[in-house]
Amino acid sequence: MIKISPSVLASDFSRLGEESVKMEKSGADMLHLDVMDGRFVPNISFGAPVISSIRGLTSLLFDVHLMISDPLKYVEDFVKAGADLITFHAESDSDIGETIDEIHSFGRKAGVAIKPATTASEVLPYLDKADMILVMTVEPGFGGQSFMRDTMPKVAEIRQEAKKRGIELDIQVDGGINADTAKEAAAAGANVLVAGSAVFRSPDPAGVISLLKSNAEVNFVG
Ligand code: DX5
Ligand code: ZN
Repeated sequence: MIKISPSVLASDFSRLGEESVKMEKSGADMLHLDVMDGRFVPNISFGAPVISSIRGLTSLLFDVHLMISDPLKYVEDFVKAGADLITFHAESDSDIGETIDEIHSFGRKAGVAIKPATTASEVLPYLDKADMILVMTVEPGFGGQSFMRDTMPKVAEIRQEAKKRGIELDIQVDGGINADTAKEAAAAGANVLVAGSAVFRSPDPAGVISLLKSNAEVNFVG
């Protein structure tokens, strides 16, 4: 099943609450929350208190993408802030297996992300343990970049391996997703699409969300 996760990084932060509620009304399946520490990536975005401040406004699943150097240390903070799914980077300083276990110990879902230059082999050992793999389709750190289609073979490789092992895995793509690239990502095997600019910069977010979903559904190879 295709899921759309709008990234609030492209929203109007002065109205973050309203923007989040708008996403729920527009048919989003999750809300993507990009946490950046200025160390793992050059930018600083927001942290657990900001996420906590909007938790009570919507029942959308909170999809927290940690672009931080030491995710293991902060898992509990983000759980308390209301994260449902916590995705951290394989390239971070934390042990991958231990971080997945820590997230699961709080009854939350765990995702493992890889940057464009990281090979699929880094996450293949965790397909049975993780709930989701995030294949970054841009360099993490900034919204509004162009989709890197050379990451698609990695999506296909991970999907094939999951299929071979009989795992119904969520594969997320993040960066440069629009009505066209949604088709390509789904054709490679991605079923969870993050979209920032495409959704928030449109006067009709509900229309964009449903277009992304139908374009992906028609092309999905799972
Ligand atoms: C990039 C973030 C993305 C970003 C996507 O570091 O992880 O979630 O907000 O933005 P768009 O869809 O505008 O490329
Ligand atoms: Zn993200």
